[in-house]
Amino acid sequence: MTENNKLIFENYRADIEACLKTLFLDKPEYQKAVCDAMEYSLMAGGKRIRPVLTLEFCRMCGGDPSAVTDIACTLEMIHTFSLIHDDLPCMDNDDFRRGRPSCHKQFNEALALLAGDALNTLPFEIIAKKAVKQEISFETAVKVAGVLAESVGVNGMIGGQVIDMDSENKTISIDELNLLQSLKTGALIKASCKIGCILGGRDDLCEAAGEYADSLGRAFQIIDDILDVKGSFEELGKPIGSDEEQNKSTYVSLMGLERAEAEARRLTAEAVRSLDAFDNSGFLKDLTEYLLIRKN
Ligand code: IPE
Ligand code: IPE
Ligand code: MG
Ligand code: MG
Ligand code: MG
Repeated sequence: MTENNKLIFENYRADIEACLKTLFLDKPEYQKAVCDAMEYSLMAGGKRIRPVLTLEFCRMCGGDPSAVTDIACTLEMIHTFSLIHDDLPCMDNDDFRRGRPSCHKQFNEALALLAGDALNTLPFEIIAKKAVKQEISFETAVKVAGVLAESVGVNGMIGGQVIDMDSENKTISIDELNLLQSLKTGALIKASCKIGCILGGRDDLCEAAGEYADSLGRAFQIIDDILDVKGSFEELGKPIGSDEEQNKSTYVSLMGLERAEAEARRLTAEAVRSLDAFDNSGFLKDLTEYLLIRKN
């Protein structure tokens, strides 16, 4: 990334961190434990790619990203909920996340389950209340909530996780893996981009944003699968070799490392090209290329 684009990325992330932090200023006394668990996982770092995508699509569409940081943060809440549940013993059974013990290890399984649940509903409370405060229109709120809810549900992340679990201990086709990926990780990434367009007042650009997200989302999961094999625990902050241990069907297990790497490069180039539909897409093109060579 160019120095200037690194700075833009850091500024976005600083705004996101600051906004997320405000959620935990005032914890209710008797429910403090679940708030602590939510805060622990949410504030553990992470690349914050999804909210950055929302803010940048909003900006590219002519909106003011600084007015919707709270909505962008809802994407990170859903993502963190998915990670907390993904790490549970009944799912991937991973003991580390974002460089710390996983939520259920630091607290316990019940609190991890509930912290995830709370992070799944808070976004809809935030979106609705923002409309009531007249900071976004009711129409925008309904559209954003609809896109977000769909990306989490049976035809989104949850559906993908179900297929992922069902694909353990067997060989599936690349088409099946593509479907799995498009739901498991693709759906929320796509929602992040589309919600940015909606907030920017350019619903007409949702389709173009979706095309970009399809390519980026797949490249993103391929790299995640590659890092599970080639990465280091220190850099990733989560266990390596987890997919093999669980006998998962991944891009690496089905295609081999070299083909998977080539496919990630091809999809990244495709994603960058699809950004030609947007003005001022220099930063996002650079970020997209950075995600291909990321180390975590
Ligand atoms: C990891 O997501 C899990 C996938 C959906 C592939 P990220 O790579 O965005 O994880 P964080 O948010 O940076 O920790
Ligand atoms: C999980 O995919 C995607 C989610 C919906 C959380 P992975 O299981 O590959 O994610 P990591 O590698 O544990 O981060
Ligand atoms: Mg998983
Ligand atoms: Mg996992
Ligand atoms: Mg993984």
